Amino acid sequence: MFKALPIAVVLLAAACVSNNSGGASAPSGLALFRVAQCGDCHGTDLAGTERGPSLKGLAKNWQQDTLAAFLGDPQTVISKDARLAALDMSYSEEMPGCPDLSDIQRGALASWLLTR
Ligand code: HEC
Repeated sequence: MFKALPIAVVLLAAACVSNNSGGASAPSGLALFRVAQCGDCHGTDLAGTERGPSLKGLAKNWQQDTLAAFLGDPQTVISKDARLAALDMSYSEEMPGCPDLSDIQRGALASWLLTR
């Protein structure tokens, strides 16, 4: 029981970040998206900005595990993927990903993104 506790605390902490306008979104994925400030470049509505592409319809190109790995180390994945390399050329900034999140958090964020 105690072994499971730290993970539960981390997930709860992430899920409890303010969620004033979430609508039908899964709370933990949305909270992580906000904590990691992905919306600064991708838009709080995921529609994209001049700093980063839209994140809608990601399921066309990603699965949960490949997307979670990408979020941990985007530039390595981009360097091996022609579509992403081309996308990279259209933006002046690079995708930083969220290497500071845990594997579990990146997995939850990836799952949430794939439902958008
Ligand atoms: C500094 C701006 C910036 C931030 C912050 C950022 N991204 Fe990105 N992201 C980009 C850019 C630019 C690209 C396009 C690839 C490139 O140029 O590196 C990209 C690409 C992506 C892609 C691939 C899109 C596709 O078509 O397959 C995903 C998924 C993604 N970002 C998710 C995220 C998530 C989730 C976060 C928060 C953890 C995040 N990004 C934070 C700029 C950003």
